[in-house]
Amino acid sequence: MEKKYIIGIAEMDKQHSKIFEIAERARDPELDLVSMQNIIVELVNYAKKHLEEEESMLRINGLHDFLTKHIVLHNQFREQAMEIYCDFRNAEEIEDKRIYLHKAASFCENWLLNHIDVEDRKYAKILKTK
Ligand SMILES: [Fe+2]
Ligand SMILES: [Fe+2]
Repeated sequence: MEKKYIIGIAEMDKQHSKIFEIAERARDPELDLVSMQNIIVELVNYAKKHLEEEESMLRINGLHDFLTKHIVLHNQFREQAMEIYCDFRNAEEIEDKRIYLHKAASFCENWLLNHIDVEDRKYAKILKTK
């Protein structure tokens, strides 16, 4: 993960960069069917776990109004990630699965980069001035 995406909340930065690391592994052209299945599950589950932990971190820190709006954004991610995962599951040919796996990787990367830079940065700023 590029340095400019670091928000200064150590645990969240660690989780963000792990998502990028999994997405990068998903692009390995040598992956066989089982590895592809494992990695898409790892990617989607880890990303979802991050969103949950971020939400509870915001709750614990009392950012309730901020959290209400932030959850709406996270839910959009959850829905779209689930759609791509279903497309992957429903694809019959291995090369079609590979396309959906790459789509999942790009979706996670693009969505996160924008989300971290705009939205997560907002709570980082609030937490740091608390
Ligand atoms: Fe977030
Ligand atoms: Fe985040």
